[in-house]
Amino acid sequence: MRKFQTLVALIILFCPFNLHSQIITNLSGRNTFTLNGKWNYIVDPYETGYYDYRYIPYDANPNPTGGFFLDQHQTDKTQLLEYDFDKCPTLMVPGDWNSQNEKLFYYEGTIWYRRLFSFKKEDPGHRVFVHFGAANYETDVYMNGKKLGKHIGGFTPFNYEITSLLKTNGENSLVVKVDNKRKREGVPTMNTDWWNYGGITRDVSIVEIPATFIIDYSIQLKKGSTSEIAGYVKLNGVAKIQKVKVEIPELKSITEVTTDADGMGKIKIPVNKIDLWSPENPKLYKVIVSCETDKVTEKIGFRTIETRGTDILLNGKPLFLRGICIHEENAMRGGRAYSKDDAQMLLNWVKELNCNYVRLAHYPHNENMTRLADEMGIMVWEENPVYWTILWDNQSTYENAQQQLTDLISRDKNRASVIIWSMANETPVSEARTLFLKNLAVHARSIDSTRLISAALEVHATKEKPLDKIVEDPFAEYVDVVTFNEYVGWYDGLPDKCDKINWVINYNKPVMISEFGADALQGLHGDTLTRWTEEYQEDLFRRTLKMLRKIPQFKGVTPWILCDFRSPRRVLPNIQDGWNRKGLIGQNGTKKKAFYVLKKFYDEMELKYK
Ligand code: GCU
Repeated sequence: MRKFQTLVALIILFCPFNLHSQIITNLSGRNTFTLNGKWNYIVDPYETGYYDYRYIPYDANPNPTGGFFLDQHQTDKTQLLEYDFDKCPTLMVPGDWNSQNEKLFYYEGTIWYRRLFSFKKEDPGHRVFVHFGAANYETDVYMNGKKLGKHIGGFTPFNYEITSLLKTNGENSLVVKVDNKRKREGVPTMNTDWWNYGGITRDVSIVEIPATFIIDYSIQLKKGSTSEIAGYVKLNGVAKIQKVKVEIPELKSITEVTTDADGMGKIKIPVNKIDLWSPENPKLYKVIVSCETDKVTEKIGFRTIETRGTDILLNGKPLFLRGICIHEENAMRGGRAYSKDDAQMLLNWVKELNCNYVRLAHYPHNENMTRLADEMGIMVWEENPVYWTILWDNQSTYENAQQQLTDLISRDKNRASVIIWSMANETPVSEARTLFLKNLAVHARSIDSTRLISAALEVHATKEKPLDKIVEDPFAEYVDVVTFNEYVGWYDGLPDKCDKINWVINYNKPVMISEFGADALQGLHGDTLTRWTEEYQEDLFRRTLKMLRKIPQFKGVTPWILCDFRSPRRVLPNIQDGWNRKGLIGQNGTKKKAFYVLKKFYDEMELKYK
């Protein structure tokens, strides 16, 4: 076994492909060619298309003689081939495989995808990349038989350059191996209360860009300032030293800088009078970023978010975050949400609740959500999938968690709607865990000093005083907002227990409740003490909201959860049947009685903070 581990370590050390390439920012501002649609696929539970019979990866050999990624189009006709993508069925991309084919409903393993495409560059001097919105969980990408890279993480974008591999005449073969097996050392790890949807779950695009292009930029108000926009522009390519311009036409603002030898140019834009983004006024400005060889445009909102004592201040004004938790799922389709329409459906429900805020649990959602939240004026909590019992003392697990957090921040750092980065959810306190989370928080602040940091913590009580709910966590000193999940009245007693709770929260920071709730099967009715009925859930919401209002630092809440969602952990026949029923909306899209209790509470809180 040791020999094999050494070999794998050497393979990774000298791997001839990208383990990580910088993400191209603002893809929607680019000239893209979509590869969405039908892809042929092979189900490969033994990874026959990846390992030879000695269990050595075929792609460890610079001139591989086997492997499904060669795609029969690349091989000579004499070679023995035991696969043929052309004769295989198809899956839709984007989309999880579980909800597309009942034989794949519970499948956890490898599926190979293959897409043939032709592509003619508009300009021979341009470069070409392939970009994935996400694929869950471990993805190996090959172009015309050559390995482009391996991506780990089920919810963040990745892209690879294909300029030198692209056939400009004839068909190109893009082969993608996606393995959604849960791993103890993974992020998340083995146990989650959501469906492990596998596949190429978000858009796939070909991007054609100039030889030297604007790969990244950050353009946001400087922390705590409404008179200065600060950030940077980063070029990628041979001509890294160029004059770069950032224009905001509506502000009659033009700023020019010259990038350094690394292609980096810091920007400082003085602003006199700026229309600040807020839920009441989700103002977005057209921003044009250009250099001598490239130009890209984006709509960006400008606002400040900070805390002062126990207040959360948006543009210097205290607010209350009227929120709801959301999983990335279209319950009616029963699969991963991925489209603009899915985002519109979910956020329309959010608006019907009179929310000004959402918690996108428990992992980065697709970019349609944050871009639409920018337009609709909905503030957003985004979360790294450091969920439950992560392997805290495993270095590669930490590096994986940090890379996923980095990619999330890189993708959404220009979204005014995003106000909080969450490091984790319900992680058991230990020294290793707190160090892991603290390092993530320090890293997040080092790459984005403008947003708040938090995490969904847990509460506890002593045997002597079971009604004193204590929020006390060593990680609380590293967050801007103390946030916790609590389930008094569902996992902990009955709803009337809410009336007897005393909260012990000794932090002079804003406090939010990131989860509370109860299961109810939509349409099941009974009295308030009959579990699974809408009346039980409704009563729990009433009593919980009354209880939480007593917390002096109470500044926001995101009840669990907007919509019922699939979970393999929920198996009660004729009630759960593989669904977590804590939604305020059923899997059929019908609202439950508790929906209106929350809406009424938010109508009151809106008036209180007017
Ligand atoms: C936990 C967890 C959720 C889970 C919920 C529940 O707090 O964070 O992911 O779905 O409780 O038990 O329904």
